[in-house]
Amino acid sequence: MNEVQCISTLLRESTRDRIVKVSEMDETILSLLREKGQAHLIEHAEMLSPEEQQAFEKSLTSIDWGFFDEIAASDADDEDVSGELSESVVLDLSDRAPSLSDAGEQAYKDGQVAVVMVAGGQGSRLGYSGPKGCYSIGAVSNKSVYQYHAEKVLALSRRYQKAVPFLIMTSAATHAETKSFFESHEMFGLESEQVSFFQQGMVPTLDDQGKVLLSSKTSLMCNPDGHGGCFTALVREGLLERLKRDGYKHLVYLQVDNILGPVFDPDLIGYAIQESADVITKVVEKTKPEEKVGLLVRRDGKDQILEYIHLTETQNQERAEDGRLRYRWGNTAMHYWSIDYLWDSHASGYHLPFHKSRKAVSAYADLENKGTGGNKSVEGIKHERFIFDLLPRAGVSLGMEISRELEFAPLKNAEGADSVETVHELTDGLYRSWLQAAGASTDELTRIEVSPLLATSQSEFLETWPKRTEKLQGEVYLD
Ligand code: UD1
Repeated sequence: MNEVQCISTLLRESTRDRIVKVSEMDETILSLLREKGQAHLIEHAEMLSPEEQQAFEKSLTSIDWGFFDEIAASDADDEDVSGELSESVVLDLSDRAPSLSDAGEQAYKDGQVAVVMVAGGQGSRLGYSGPKGCYSIGAVSNKSVYQYHAEKVLALSRRYQKAVPFLIMTSAATHAETKSFFESHEMFGLESEQVSFFQQGMVPTLDDQGKVLLSSKTSLMCNPDGHGGCFTALVREGLLERLKRDGYKHLVYLQVDNILGPVFDPDLIGYAIQESADVITKVVEKTKPEEKVGLLVRRDGKDQILEYIHLTETQNQERAEDGRLRYRWGNTAMHYWSIDYLWDSHASGYHLPFHKSRKAVSAYADLENKGTGGNKSVEGIKHERFIFDLLPRAGVSLGMEISRELEFAPLKNAEGADSVETVHELTDGLYRSWLQAAGASTDELTRIEVSPLLATSQSEFLETWPKRTEKLQGEVYLD
């Protein structure tokens, strides 16, 4: 019996006769909570009624208590900025050879490519309470972010007559709504077997003494374990093993909030095949030192994503001989992953470290208020894993420059940078350029949207758009 099951059984036994005090519980639970530095939870449980204890038990058993051992052993040291920085190897846009695309296409044709999308975050910065994927983003069609991505996968599946696996990572906050959203839209045309929803883990939110906070009288406070939880959850849910078993070799990774993130990317897959890459990070060139993006750099010879605050002022300003910033490769959070590399990392027992961040949270303040309850705002410590911590241990990690205009339209904020407005401008600009390349006049068009089912790139658009003679005017949706 593992620790969680053990607590569950013992708590159940202790609450069965409804008068047992937590302090009378089996020594195993008490010593476990004490061992993990969580004796305040025992004190709290003693103040609860038997009914409340039952609810509290549920919350206690939802936690993987091994988390405390992991943070003790492997917390990432974000303060450590030591080590020698150098530039990562990045394939410039101008250096893409046509042969890359042929190799990549062959891998798609052979059914070796799957897609994973992380969608555990909510739209809170957007001012939207649901999963970001349910947000209506189509500039003309009003279609949701999820529909946009699903149609890209559907277009790809139709192209090669292969049901490309589409793995969607959700969190406790987005899982049920995401699933029912897809179901109520008939999976946006995808086969239900090709779509897998899998939930990332939750970890306890701590106070600055390392004690678990409570979100209510009967529940521990937890937060999603970061986008790195994707690696852990792919393993836990058996999905990584299934992909490997079914012969998939390449994984295209994207974030739900990047509307233009491609799933059909023969250059990316071709480059990975050519270089036997474990991971490729798609990057955009940072042009101003003050731009706040994570950067792909080498530290002590190993690729890594560093936030700009982890570079010194001199490093942020440093220019190469050609006048470009030396550390200029902004992380778009789109990656290629070799399935073998992910599997080997798991098989070798590797665990992604946790990073800490501080955030004001509303915590139940029972102990402090001597049982009178009530929540108050306190500083909570959240622990999250980042998927890009898998870079430094990769044998072959590379960067690949992409065009912002073609592939990067992040939706993060209600207004200003990376907002609905900028996404609409970016998609409109892109589709306008496709129409112009097809020889159409766009002067009288106020808004243009192209369905991914019609085309996901200019070359596809030129192949598939039935040239129309009528004049396009106003708002146009091409599908
Ligand atoms: C992230 C990157 C940044 C990059 C930028 C590009 C980090 C620390 N930073 O920043 O380097 O330049 O994207 O857009 O990653 N998510 C989950 N579960 C979680 C947390 C996040 O699924 O527990 C998903 C979100 O749904 C979202 C994505 O991960 O799709 C990014 O999360 P977010 O916190 O918005 O990252 P950024 O701060 O924007």
